[in-house]
Amino acid sequence: MVIDVRNLSIEYKIGNDYLEAVHDISFSLTKKESLGFVGESGCGKSTLAYALLNLLEENGRISNGEIIINEKDIVSATNKEIRDIRWKEIAMIFQNAMTALNPVEKIGVQITNALLLHEKISRKQAIERAKDIFNKVGISPSRLMEYPHEFSGGMKQRAVIALALICYPNILLADEPTTALDVVAQRQVLELLVQLKEEFNLTLIMISHDISVVAEACEKVAVMYGGEIMELGNTEDVFKSSNHPYTKSLINSFPSLYQEISELEQIPGYPPSLEDLPKGCPFATRCAYAQEVCFSEKPAMRRVNNDKLVKCHFAEELDFNKRGDSY
Ligand SMILES: Nc1ncnc2c1ncn2[C@@H]1O[C@H](COP(=O)(O)OP(=O)(O)OP(=O)(O)O)[C@@H](O)[C@H]1O
Ligand code: SF4
Ligand SMILES: [Mg+2]
Repeated sequence: MVIDVRNLSIEYKIGNDYLEAVHDISFSLTKKESLGFVGESGCGKSTLAYALLNLLEENGRISNGEIIINEKDIVSATNKEIRDIRWKEIAMIFQNAMTALNPVEKIGVQITNALLLHEKISRKQAIERAKDIFNKVGISPSRLMEYPHEFSGGMKQRAVIALALICYPNILLADEPTTALDVVAQRQVLELLVQLKEEFNLTLIMISHDISVVAEACEKVAVMYGGEIMELGNTEDVFKSSNHPYTKSLINSFPSLYQEISELEQIPGYPPSLEDLPKGCPFATRCAYAQEVCFSEKPAMRRVNNDKLVKCHFAEELDFNKRGDSY
């Protein structure tokens, strides 16, 4: 197993209280597997990503669970151990990554400096590696010594991907890697990520609020709501024959990459805030299928057809299969 996350819960200190932003998340991935996390804004996607790199903000803490990366426990690791794991074993493309490039430093210098900080190699070797990685992300190495403002949006995102891969990590975590791009660049960056996954034998974790991005790039998908995974399985099983009312609503609220949908449905209401997370199912206040039990008891994760995991009291009873055609 390359990454194994077990019963992970994460809290933020707000005022005098710790409030839970991520609740009881478990998943595991082997070499070259890809998993996409989808869900509305505020459902905890970035919080989960930061925790995987042990980079939570100061008021955040892991309140329960384990994160095992290449057989090393991230939660109990020392700062030095974490520094050795980041970049070399797990690297992240941050949400709004394009603004992460230093505007007053040449991109090639930023990439070689990152490499020299983490590996004992000469500057000449570092420059050769930077040229090689530029080639791999589809930018001419002749442009290494340019500044970020000289690159288009798509090229900047490619440069950010090059930066993430410069130490040859085996896990790449990409938080909304295409959100800031136009449709054409979006597709190209997605294709690039899929190609690099093969070339570098990467385990890919992708985060997006856009289900079509994840459908395109990931073999597995986890649908998040209110800090919890609601449905987890092979992408096709989840999107074509979902067993969860929230997944159903999410699919019906998105235009499809593959075919026209006549009408997009809005999900009524808003996601819960950390201050008033419901006692039972977090989706209960917006769910058309909610029963009394949904408001009082949290549904357990259960295994349904094709090895899918679903957190709904009625996962086996609700038949949504007809809506698969909107995927
Ligand atoms: N440092 C923080 N302190 C307090 N609350 C936080 C902090 N960071 C995030 N939160 C809260 O935690 C919840 C999850 O936020 P997170 O950024 O993980 O969501 P997200 O799914 O990545 O959303 P988006 O799609 O908008 O990027 C939200 O309610 C958010 O307001
Ligand atoms: S547990 Fe109840 S409220 Fe939650 S998704 Fe299932 S039916 Fe809806
Ligand atoms: Mg986010």
